[in-house]
Amino acid sequence: MHQYDHEPKKIVVCGKSGFGKTIFCYRFLRAAKYDCFFIFDHDGQFAFRNGIRDVAFSDEALETHWKRRYVIFNPSEMFPGRTAVAFEYFCEWAYHKSGTVPGKKLLFADENQKYTDTKNISPAFSTNIETGRHVGLDLLLATLAFNRIHNAVHGQATEWVTFQITTERQLKPLLEIGFDKEEVINLPKFHYVGRTDRGEFYKGTVSP
Ligand SMILES: Nc1ncnc2c1ncn2[C@@H]1O[C@H](COP(=O)(O)OP(=O)(O)O)[C@@H](O)[C@H]1O
Ligand SMILES: [Mg+2]
Repeated sequence: MHQYDHEPKKIVVCGKSGFGKTIFCYRFLRAAKYDCFFIFDHDGQFAFRNGIRDVAFSDEALETHWKRRYVIFNPSEMFPGRTAVAFEYFCEWAYHKSGTVPGKKLLFADENQKYTDTKNISPAFSTNIETGRHVGLDLLLATLAFNRIHNAVHGQATEWVTFQITTERQLKPLLEIGFDKEEVINLPKFHYVGRTDRGEFYKGTVSP
């Protein structure tokens, strides 16, 4: 079931630890209009912070979650200590499921730098990034910094959101796409700046 009319959205959220990335993403997930959600809950934080007990730890549970189109996958039992492998598995699974139904789907992966590689991108993650639009699959990624994600992710991102970042190395990719250095360095906690794919900048805040 290919969807040629899908306008892809790939949002990358970055910034220092504890400044509001995860809060931003949760708020986005609550507000966004999607027909299906795929949540990669690599360390159980999503379930814990949202007070959710019904989490999928197995293939059977994934199928149950899929029936209601809101999938929260915790990989700790199927892939103990192998989060990168788990992410690859989940990307492939979400892509496959997305191809079986019409509508808009969103995959959310927090703390992406913990289980993806900046040098070698895994095949299923790459497929989601490059061709997710064919199956209506969008992406919301949070990572410590843009230099912690693969170039393919940079290349395909449609929207960038940053909280405070202060190190030169991590600022560089942001400055290259037009973010203001002083502004990003001085962002107070819970404040962010975003950039759309049309090159428009916007500001906002989140609160816990
Ligand atoms: N449940 C909560 N109660 C109180 N404060 C919280 C809660 N969750 C997050 N915070 C505050 O938000 C900050 C973390 O925001 P978060 O979005 O998790 O940051 P990041 O994902 O960028 O590391 C913490 O430093 C804390 O001050
Ligand atoms: Mg976080």
